[in-house]
Amino acid sequence: MSRIPMIAGNWKMNTTVEDAVRLVTTMLPNLDKVSGIDKVVCPPFVSLAAVKEIIEGSTIKLGAQDVFYKEKGAFTGEISPGMLAGLCEYVIIGHSERRQYFGDNEEIIDMKIKAAMESMLKPIFCVGESLEENEAGRTEEVLTRQCMASCDRLYFFGGIVIAYEPVWAIGTGKSATSEQANKTIGFIRQLIRHRHSGEIADNVRILYGGSVTAANIAELMKMPEIDGALVGGASLKHDDFLSIAQQASEIRGVS
Ligand code: PGA
Repeated sequence: MSRIPMIAGNWKMNTTVEDAVRLVTTMLPNLDKVSGIDKVVCPPFVSLAAVKEIIEGSTIKLGAQDVFYKEKGAFTGEISPGMLAGLCEYVIIGHSERRQYFGDNEEIIDMKIKAAMESMLKPIFCVGESLEENEAGRTEEVLTRQCMASCDRLYFFGGIVIAYEPVWAIGTGKSATSEQANKTIGFIRQLIRHRHSGEIADNVRILYGGSVTAANIAELMKMPEIDGALVGGASLKHDDFLSIAQQASEIRGVS
């Protein structure tokens, strides 16, 4: 079993097309050389084509931040899996900001995962408990519900990347400790082991996300259950993102 670690940058609603081009152009030469891990950038939809052109032929991969579950039609403002399929390899689905502000519930998220996979996109499926749920000791119950609503897709298709992102750690500067994150990710892997198979559980990549920085990535990557990170704020600073990727590669890169 050797899961290839992944460092993915979620740029969220930041960067104009011009900014995105500048950011990825600055990152490219050094990030391209980081080996033994998958490196993914997820700019806003409007910058995907421009970023794709710049990273063409490099080792950097491209992801989108969301997708709709219908293939086409009268859905003003939405982007379909077919539109993304030629542009990027990955797509973030079920991010807590989508759940919180845009009404993405478990049913919608599951439809998005199914639609994405049918178009050969690889979902980065986000799960995580809120602060209240965490403080009430309900983390495992919430994760079980969120995972079970969509993890059947694992059984049918394989290839999903899961990102455990405790909502209280996102954008707050208050990361989970590496021990906490390792334990919870281990719990998610156990869920998959029981629901599906040991083989699927051993192969699925589970990332941690929430205030990951160049200062805490090393501790996280030393943990056996943590297969990488989904990075928000720090992915917008090219030297921080590079350092995060380099440390992940040094600690866990596969040859
Ligand atoms: P953060 O965001 O690194 O800024 O906390 C992570 C995420 O939301 O994916």
